[in-house]
Amino acid sequence: MNVKIEGRRKIRAKVTIPPDKSISHRSIMIGSLARGTTEIENFLFAEDCLSTINCFKKLGAEIEIKNDKVIVKGKNYSLSAPQQVLDCGNSGTTTRLLLGILSTQEFEAVLDGDSSLRKRPMKRVTQPLGQMGACFEFLEKEDCLPIKVKGKKNLKPIDYTLPVSSAQVKSALIFAALKAEGKSVIKELPMSRDHTELMLKSAGADIATCFENGFYKIEVMPSNLEALKIKVPSDISSAAFFIVLALICEDSEVIIENCILNPTRTGIIDILKQMGADIKIKNVQIQNGETIGTIVAKTSSLRGATVDKNDIPRIIDEIPILAVAAAFADGKTIIDNASELRVKESDRIKTTLEMLKNFGAECYELENGLEIVGSRDNLKAGVVNSYNDHRIAMAASILACAVDGESTITNAECVSISFPNFYKILLGHSKKV
Ligand code: S3P
Repeated sequence: MNVKIEGRRKIRAKVTIPPDKSISHRSIMIGSLARGTTEIENFLFAEDCLSTINCFKKLGAEIEIKNDKVIVKGKNYSLSAPQQVLDCGNSGTTTRLLLGILSTQEFEAVLDGDSSLRKRPMKRVTQPLGQMGACFEFLEKEDCLPIKVKGKKNLKPIDYTLPVSSAQVKSALIFAALKAEGKSVIKELPMSRDHTELMLKSAGADIATCFENGFYKIEVMPSNLEALKIKVPSDISSAAFFIVLALICEDSEVIIENCILNPTRTGIIDILKQMGADIKIKNVQIQNGETIGTIVAKTSSLRGATVDKNDIPRIIDEIPILAVAAAFADGKTIIDNASELRVKESDRIKTTLEMLKNFGAECYELENGLEIVGSRDNLKAGVVNSYNDHRIAMAASILACAVDGESTITNAECVSISFPNFYKILLGHSKKV
């Protein structure tokens, strides 16, 4: 699908942002592993989370949609051998967390995914899970999907420090550690998103978290999980596109309610504020152990910034849209120490730079990041390929709204991975000046 966007738009609206993707995945997984029936309100019906539902159905979980709620009948960590390959689609979270969960099950299963997911590294989870006693076979290419996994009851506990911060790796190990023979200890620096820890604590898991010598430390004891009632808040990674839209378009204001504001996710707000953004947070509350609230963003003059390396995990999915804000800012923005971007849905260092260059921005590739020399005057309408990466398609579309002329985003259908009604909301709420 090619999307054409007439530029020079403005937006003044309250925007309903889709539910959080990370929390939606975890609600299905934890619901399927718990004892009893989990009820999920405001679940994200987007392709990645549907991949998780389909995999858990193949593993014997009973998952139904009733009156807009997802109802999951839990299997108390006793899943069934799948009759077919588990197709994880485009979703790294589905794959890596599932590898941790399947490490606790005694049957064999094969996981596969689309061409983007087949390129992404999996040893980061199979290596530590192998130490715990699970067996993995790479069926085509070392380190990649398709993978055959055979789990084990009574895994060995693990004491493991993550070489690179990753919520996916950390979560896979926690899911395995919940069925190990003793206490596991997992450490990372800096801390990545902690939705798994928070949701598992609510489900009654014996998990303790603290900071020790600068490291974030998680201690996991073998536990059973109890069913939950979960209401999923809006996803700040999707909200980020509309926040930046308000900042870079003239005479604009966007209000986003019930948005996740977990501090491991709000790096984008902190950095945009450092760049001079007019963003206000209101109505902060706790819901299911997670911080949520309202975000109000208004037209702003932005200046360049250097992103602190400790903030990288807190903005890992927002870098394409942060780079768009940087292209409109005065001066240089440096986003370095972000080698993880190379192994996302696309090589997001290359695809973000390619996208910006197609709109006329001055920007450079660093070994592990990007440098953007912002100037609104350089920017003009362009034709941009999404490289089938949902976040590149959306970042490019936001940039297109703020420049003069008509832009084209090719392969734009990939927005359905995380934000199926993105264009309806974007083109419905923003108007030509
Ligand atoms: C996610 C973790 C992040 C993020 C991904 C979702 C999660 O990946 O990029 O989109 O839900 O755990 P890493 O933890 O591998 O950085």
